[in-house]
Amino acid sequence: MTKPKVYITRLIPEAALEIIAGACDYRIWPEEGTPVPRDILLQEIPTVAGVFTLLTEKVDEELLRAAPRVKIVANMAVGYDNVDLAAASRHGVMVTNTPGVLTETTADLTFALLLATARRLLEANQYLRQGRWKTWYPMLLTGQDVYGATLGIIGLGRIGEAVARRARGFAMRVLYYNRHRREDLERELGATYRPLDDLLREADFVSIHAPLAPETRHLIGERELALMKPTAVLINTSRGPLVDEQALYLALVQKRIWAAGLDVFEAEPVSLENPLLRLENVVALPHIGSASVATRVKMATTAAINLVAGVTGQRPPHLVNPQGWKG
Ligand code: GLV
Repeated sequence: MTKPKVYITRLIPEAALEIIAGACDYRIWPEEGTPVPRDILLQEIPTVAGVFTLLTEKVDEELLRAAPRVKIVANMAVGYDNVDLAAASRHGVMVTNTPGVLTETTADLTFALLLATARRLLEANQYLRQGRWKTWYPMLLTGQDVYGATLGIIGLGRIGEAVARRARGFAMRVLYYNRHRREDLERELGATYRPLDDLLREADFVSIHAPLAPETRHLIGERELALMKPTAVLINTSRGPLVDEQALYLALVQKRIWAAGLDVFEAEPVSLENPLLRLENVVALPHIGSASVATRVKMATTAAINLVAGVTGQRPPHLVNPQGWKG
């Protein structure tokens, strides 16, 4: 029996390749450090039944039109804003993501960023390496306390919840804003619901964990930043476009907020011309929220399992558009 053909848009961990090779004939973009060029992807997909994608690939109407046999787009990420979900559903294409496996790793990175930003770790490291450490003095590289501070979580889904659990270890007061109330977590973790504006006014740390959608684009803009305390820190490990970067830059330069920790940017990879990178009170990371060895392997194998299910007539475990499933 001939195996279904699939295309993989990047070199992926061996364990995931093995899962795919067991059930499919695959072709792959063999590079790790460069995304597949769009024209190559457009050439590769007309004959395949499934495609394994990363968040660097834009899966839009044009691509779907060029892929009449594709049944599934298996995205190796929990977020799928790179995929036009409505267009996929219109084309009868299933879309899957990799939820759950990266929750704790991303929450760890969120806390690492929060601590690094609050306590100016990168600045301190530079200060030492540049030979500027001549003596100890009372207000040298002083930051903000994390222990006992108020954390405002925007988006109390899986990752937001995992961040709230970590915050308890730091005796933080946890406020949250979410589409719907999480009374289970209010009881269990003592998290308190606040309308967004109130959360922004009260929090010492604001951490964003909401998905990117048209209604969340620039959720944090000039007006919202103006509500925050001058000592407050903004952390974003979700998607860059949730924050209006120009407004954030101005708020940071004018010291209307204290600092920002960013793992994601409006345009990625971030340009070195981005003025945020010139600011000492910004800690910037290259979208590494889920980047532990174990988690990235789990994400790849999860996406591989989804892909194989989709091209072999089974319902993939992590289908985000049930409309795409033809049963
Ligand atoms: C990474 O950003 C993901 O969505 O998994």
